[in-house]
Amino acid sequence: MASRKLSSLLSLSSCFSSSSFGNPSSSSHVSVCISRFTTFASIEKPINPSVKIEHNQLLIDGKFVDAASGKTFPTLDPRTGNVIAQVAEGDAEDINRAVSAARKAFDEGPWPRMTPYERSCILLRFADLVEKNMDKVSALETWDSGKPYDQVANVEVPMLVRLIRYYAGWADKIHGLTLPADGSYHVQTLHEPVGVAGQIIPWNFPLVMYGWKIGPALACANTVVLKTAEQTPLSALYVTSLLYEAGLPPGVLNVVSGFGASAGAPLCSHMDVDKIAFTGSTETGQRILEMAAKSNLKSVTLELGGKSPFIVCEDADIDQAAELAHFALFFNQGQCCCAGSRTLVHERVYDEFVEKAKACASKRVVGDPFQKGVQQGPQIDEKQFQKILKYIRSGVESGATLEIGGDRCGSKGYYIQPTIFSNVKDNMLIAQDEIFGPVQTILKYKDLDEVVRRANATQYGLAAGVFTQNLATANFLSRALRVGSVWINCYDVFDAAIPFGGYKMSGQGREKGIYSLSNYLQIKAVVTPLKNPAWL
Ligand code: NAI
Ligand code: MG
Repeated sequence: MASRKLSSLLSLSSCFSSSSFGNPSSSSHVSVCISRFTTFASIEKPINPSVKIEHNQLLIDGKFVDAASGKTFPTLDPRTGNVIAQVAEGDAEDINRAVSAARKAFDEGPWPRMTPYERSCILLRFADLVEKNMDKVSALETWDSGKPYDQVANVEVPMLVRLIRYYAGWADKIHGLTLPADGSYHVQTLHEPVGVAGQIIPWNFPLVMYGWKIGPALACANTVVLKTAEQTPLSALYVTSLLYEAGLPPGVLNVVSGFGASAGAPLCSHMDVDKIAFTGSTETGQRILEMAAKSNLKSVTLELGGKSPFIVCEDADIDQAAELAHFALFFNQGQCCCAGSRTLVHERVYDEFVEKAKACASKRVVGDPFQKGVQQGPQIDEKQFQKILKYIRSGVESGATLEIGGDRCGSKGYYIQPTIFSNVKDNMLIAQDEIFGPVQTILKYKDLDEVVRRANATQYGLAAGVFTQNLATANFLSRALRVGSVWINCYDVFDAAIPFGGYKMSGQGREKGIYSLSNYLQIKAVVTPLKNPAWL
């Protein structure tokens, strides 16, 4: 197995498919070499996206409308910081309008009353339409978020399509139980929709997070008010127009663009919203729980931050381990909640690993995300860009060894050099905080008990990677790590059926798979006496 190429090893976990976020293998495309990593000159001359912005209003009650205030905000192109389009800026008044539409659609509309099979058919038609418009969806997402087009078109949009089809499959298989209660009663449980779900998504995977959220909510016959992230409002507006084209009744899915404090918070505090599902920072997650508690005790699921360990054992094939650890951290510009952001390497293979990790980073292709073969585009915005550069400075100041990178890339937009620190200690800020950027920190460990203790010594518990050829080690670590996902000899495998979520401050509840359905269902117990009246 050690001699097998990583690509074939990973194909066992169907890595480069819609079930996983990407392909760890480095691209062989090389254009202009700057410094020690590969970059394309197109950073300075952005490629013109071949797509028009058709939808920039709010989507309420099945219609595109302006914000009640008439306000708009710019959504920016991370390649340049230039404005792509002005987008209607929703606030509390628009949230009220959207919640009323969703409530009416739930209480009076056809959606919860149609047959589950009809709901399933609408979702399947929607998936077909997304697939048919793959190029346009992918171009919009790339333009608004700076993700490589290849990644969006080959992995993320197919993943959305797969998710929608997966949940379309659930729509007509949701049912309760008949229970053997006291023999004189017939007892059944009805699995009913929760009602109006509020959903708040982040900018790092706008379309994938959209799918994770709306898939189970709609399969369970709920209605939805979805707030997109202010950095990436465009793709959700467009694909939701396709969902209506597929036959969704008015008001079932309402999309409000806007900011956290002025649009997200009113949704979380709303007295007529029955549930909130959120993905984003741990701090905002804490605020959301508070708002839910202080309003109507709506149920909340949270998918929050992480500082996930990627553990390289002493028996590992170091070429493969370095390549996979590189993928685990650098994928999506390092902007992943589950990024393998603490690379913990056994002392016996540490030096060799650092050299190989550097070689991987030096080959990473950074450039305009519309350029073929580019693996890393810009960070999402100025705020994230500055935050990452600050962490890099902190790494240097705290005494870690800067092995490669460490600066911006080009002179435009928010590109950052693939960066690696070695000799990182647990108490350094770069080993504790979620950097959310292309910065790999490599730490040294001596034995398995120690690595478990250190891997778990964080407020987070989202995911972990383990690279080993020893089954007993894999079994030991996967049970000892206090995290919601353990990827053994693979990373970021995200099939629609696999649950995802965090322990500790990485969140509560699970998304995807069968587990996510329970977030969107109320269980009602119905009791009927076998003899009538029961007391005779
Ligand atoms: P954030 O948590 O503030 O934003 C995520 C979403 O929450 C956005 O739609 C935003 O508008 C909304 N939001 C913000 N404040 C809100 C409030 N008071 N009430 C309701 N909704 C609110 O995260 P941000 O500022 O975009 O990124 C900060 C850090 O969070 C990142 O550097 C990263 O460490 C982490 N993050 C984690 C993500 C994940 O996938 N778990 C995704 C995005 C960010
Ligand atoms: Mg944008």
